Amino acid sequence: MCGIVGYAGNKSVESVLMVGLACLEYRGYDSAGIAVIDHDELEIRKEKGKIKALEALLREKPVRGNVGVGHTRWATHGEPSQINAHPHTNEKQTIAIVHNGIIENYMQLKMKLQSLGYIFLSNTDTEVISHLLSMELSAKKTVKEAFLSLFKTIQGKWAIAAVFEREPDKVYFAQDGAPLLIGKGKREYFLASDLSALVRNSTEVCYIKPKQWGYFSKEELVLFDFDGNDVVPEMKKQEAKWEDVDKGGFPHYMIKEIYEQAGIFRKIIDRRIKENGELDFSEMGLSKEILSKVNRIVIQAAGTSLHSGMIGKHYLEQFTKIQTDTEMSSEFRYRNPVVEGDTLIIAISQSGETADTLASIHEAKAKFLKVLSMVNNVNSTIARESDAFIDTCAGMEIGVASTKAFTAQVLHLLLFAMYFSTIKWMMSDELRKELIDEIKQLPTKIEYILNKAPEIEKWAQDFINTKDFVFLGRTYNHPIALEGALKLKEISYIHASGYAGGEFKHGPIALITSEVPVVCIANKSEIYPKMISNIQEIKARSGKIISIVTEGDVEAKSLSDYCFEVPACHEFLSPILNVIPLQLLSYYVAIARGCTPDQPRNLAKSVTVE
Ligand code: M6R
Repeated sequence: MCGIVGYAGNKSVESVLMVGLACLEYRGYDSAGIAVIDHDELEIRKEKGKIKALEALLREKPVRGNVGVGHTRWATHGEPSQINAHPHTNEKQTIAIVHNGIIENYMQLKMKLQSLGYIFLSNTDTEVISHLLSMELSAKKTVKEAFLSLFKTIQGKWAIAAVFEREPDKVYFAQDGAPLLIGKGKREYFLASDLSALVRNSTEVCYIKPKQWGYFSKEELVLFDFDGNDVVPEMKKQEAKWEDVDKGGFPHYMIKEIYEQAGIFRKIIDRRIKENGELDFSEMGLSKEILSKVNRIVIQAAGTSLHSGMIGKHYLEQFTKIQTDTEMSSEFRYRNPVVEGDTLIIAISQSGETADTLASIHEAKAKFLKVLSMVNNVNSTIARESDAFIDTCAGMEIGVASTKAFTAQVLHLLLFAMYFSTIKWMMSDELRKELIDEIKQLPTKIEYILNKAPEIEKWAQDFINTKDFVFLGRTYNHPIALEGALKLKEISYIHASGYAGGEFKHGPIALITSEVPVVCIANKSEIYPKMISNIQEIKARSGKIISIVTEGDVEAKSLSDYCFEVPACHEFLSPILNVIPLQLLSYYVAIARGCTPDQPRNLAKSVTVE
C-alpha cells in the first residue's frame, strides 16, 4: 500500500520518478507527489487523484534536478486530498518525506509537537516525521543523529524516503516492517517499494531489511542499522525482465495475467514434477524428518490466498490425513489460538508483505511453531521471516485482483500435499500417477477455456445493471464460489456473496428473485446431484442460473440461463479450471460497467497495514 520511489544520478529526476510511480500505481492511487532538489532548493509538486493529475501539474510547473523522492498514496490517515498527498515537509520546507505504512503513536507525537509550537498542515500520520526530524536538526544534531532519535520515537510498521536541502545530493531511507529496495544503475541509485519500479533501470538490487536505514548519492550506497552500526549492502543481480512488468499488448494487467495462466502452469510442472514422477520442493528447506512429526496444520492467509488455502485444506486432509484448519490471518493473530508444538503453520501470500499474515507468522513463532510460507515474491518479508518457503512461481502479479497467483497457489498446494503424502505413505501409486497425468494436461485445458472467453464477454452486457450476485459451490469448489464473489465485487462493485451449496437453503435462499443471478459450479462429481438440487430450488424461485459445468453436461445445462463448459478433469483439479471463467466474468462485467479493473476503488495491491 502506497508506493515510494527515489533517485540520485545524472538523469532528469522528474522523469525517473514519474516512470517509477507509474509502475507502482497499483499500490495506491488516491494522490501522488514528488519532491526534488532543484538548484539546491527543495521543490514539491503534489496532486489529488491518479498519477495523470500529477503529470498535468508537472507540465504546468516542471521541476529540474537529479535527486528526489516520489509517492503514490493509498489513504490511511486523512482523506485523499492535495494537502494530505505526500511528500510532507517541515515548516521551513527544507525536508521532504514520503512514507508507506502507519505511525501508530502519531497522535501523541502530534500533540506533543503542537504544544511545542509546530504547525501541522495535513491530517496524515506522516507529517510528524518531517517535524520530528526538523526538531532534531534545529537542536544542532547531524542528519544521522536525527534519524537515530526518530527510530526511538516512532512506532508502527513503515518505510520512508527523504530529501534534505542541507544534503542536496542524497536520498535518505529507512524501513521497519514495510518493503523497500535500492536499485543500482550506471552511476545512479534508485529506490522503490517493490521490484516492478526497478526492472527498467537497475542491474543490481539490495533488499533493505527491517531496522535498516541509510542514504545514497549517485556514487555510493551507505547502510546502517537502527543502532547506527555500519551494514554492508547485499547487492543481488536484478533478474526480472521488462516483459514481466509490461502489459504486453493487453489493455489491463488483470486480463494479461488471466491469459498467462497456461504458460505459468507449464513452468510449474517443469520445475516441480521430475521425469520419474517425483516432486521437487528442493528450495523449501524443511526436512522430511520435520514434516514427519507434524500432527496438525493451520493454514493462515487473507483474501484470495485464504481461498486457495481452503482448497489446500481438502488436499492436505485427503492426502496426508493430518487435521488441517484454515484461518483468516487477521483473526488468527488476535485470538490466542490453541496450537501445539507439532502444528505446522502454512502462511500463503502472493505479495509476501500482507501485514495480517506477517503478524500471524510472528504470533506462531512466539508459540515456537514451524512456519512454512507459500509466496510469489521470494524476496519478501514473509519469505524471509518464515522457517521455510515455497516459491509459487506465478511471476510478478500487478493486477490488484489476484488471478494467476491464485491458480499457482492451488497447484502448489496440491503438489505439496502429494509430496507430503509420500512422507506419511498415505496416497496410492495409482492415484498419484493419475493425478500427475491429469496435472500435465492442465495447461492445454486452461488454453481451451481461454479460447472461449468471448462467450463470457458476451454475457457481461446482461449484467451491467445487476445489483446482487450469488455464487454456489460445494467441497473443493466452495472456495471457488467465495473467490468468484470476491473477484466480482472487488473490480465491478456489484454486491456478491459465495456460499456452500448445502448451506444455501439455511437462510441465503431468501435472497433469490428474478433479479439475482446465481452462479452454480456444477461439475460432474459425487456431489453433482446435490448441485442439481440447488439449481432446481433456485429455478423454482425464478432465479437466473449461470452454470459452470463439465463439457458434455446435459442436465445442469438444460436448467441454466447461461452455461459455460469446462473440460472434464479429476475433481481435485476442478477448482483450477472453474475459477478461470469466473475471473473472466468479473473482468468483462467490470469493463462493461466502465470500471477500471487494475485500479479498483478503495483498494491497493499488497495490504501492508492492519
Ligand atoms: O499478497 P497476499 O496474497 O497476501 O494478499 C492477500 C489479499 O490482500 C489479496 O488476495 C486480495 O484479497 C486481492 N485483492 C484479491 O484479489
